[in-house]
Amino acid sequence: PQPTAKLLSGYTIPLVGLGTWKSAKGEVGAAVATALRAGYRHIDCARIYQNEHEVGEALAAVLAEGVVKREEVFITSKLWNTDHDPARVEAACRKSMEDLRVSYLDLYLMHWPVTGTPGPEVQPPLADTWAAMEQLVDKGLVRTIGVSNFSAKKLEALMARARIQPAVNQVEAHPYWRNEELRSWCAARGVHLTAYSPLGSPDSAAVIGRAADVPSPLKDETVAAVAAELGKSPAQVLIRWAVQRGTSVLPKSVNPQRIAANLEVLVGGWQLAPEQVARLDALPVQRRMVDGSFWVDARGPYRSTAELWDE
Ligand code: A2P
Repeated sequence: PQPTAKLLSGYTIPLVGLGTWKSAKGEVGAAVATALRAGYRHIDCARIYQNEHEVGEALAAVLAEGVVKREEVFITSKLWNTDHDPARVEAACRKSMEDLRVSYLDLYLMHWPVTGTPGPEVQPPLADTWAAMEQLVDKGLVRTIGVSNFSAKKLEALMARARIQPAVNQVEAHPYWRNEELRSWCAARGVHLTAYSPLGSPDSAAVIGRAADVPSPLKDETVAAVAAELGKSPAQVLIRWAVQRGTSVLPKSVNPQRIAANLEVLVGGWQLAPEQVARLDALPVQRRMVDGSFWVDARGPYRSTAELWDE
């Protein structure tokens, strides 16, 4: 059995999941099928990735093989910014469910604290969107609800208005952006942190307009040294680091060998020694790869990335 974390909803989340952001059409289905056959039990999806239909085909095919049962796989999707209007939430969720060919989602996340409507306030208010997401739980469409890309401040404001508490905050986390303050803030409140871009998202530069020469944890000397000490790859060290700090982690790959290798961090009983973790926890480079600058608007609600992240 794989390591899992218990969520506030009472359900459990497998710690290693397959990421599907940037997985191209024509490739993502094979990646999902390979992952499930290799033992992955957690697939992270989103409507905005524009590939849920192909993910759903692959999931259905593997379920039909009898390799795994639906209730053994943890499937996440996310509500996109343009569907925050409470009147749109259920239809958006149902569209993802239909594309993914599932009768329920394990986890549905508000993808960003952003609606795309310029102005001084977030409109519609995040709490109103959340109330509509709570109804998805009431209706049995979704088992657990949560958020993504929320600061502690935004999460706290939402929690104060929530009937069903957000159980997960999915944010960027890796040794070059440890996000430790947010992780410990969430941990103290029972909110599970999921780490996206755990390898530093080397393939997202072109997609989101980040400079291609930003330092990458996959190429870090200390990560390489720890990997050599353990006889593992740098990617495996980064994924193992995430698991050992109690986060779930979503390495994306469409390559069969790398998909398998990324899950092998759970095999063989190996781990990072405390001293190795301490070296990774001391790496001086700290910067987001996904900085959210694409949501900054002079008209508000976020006039700077500092306002988006409350830093
Ligand atoms: P590919 O899909 O060709 O394997 P992140 O999960 O941080 O967003 O990073 C995903 C990127 O890392 C993709 O470019 C992916 O390429 C690459 N990648 C995934 N697994 C590994 C690995 N084990 N070693 C090196 N690169 C990897």
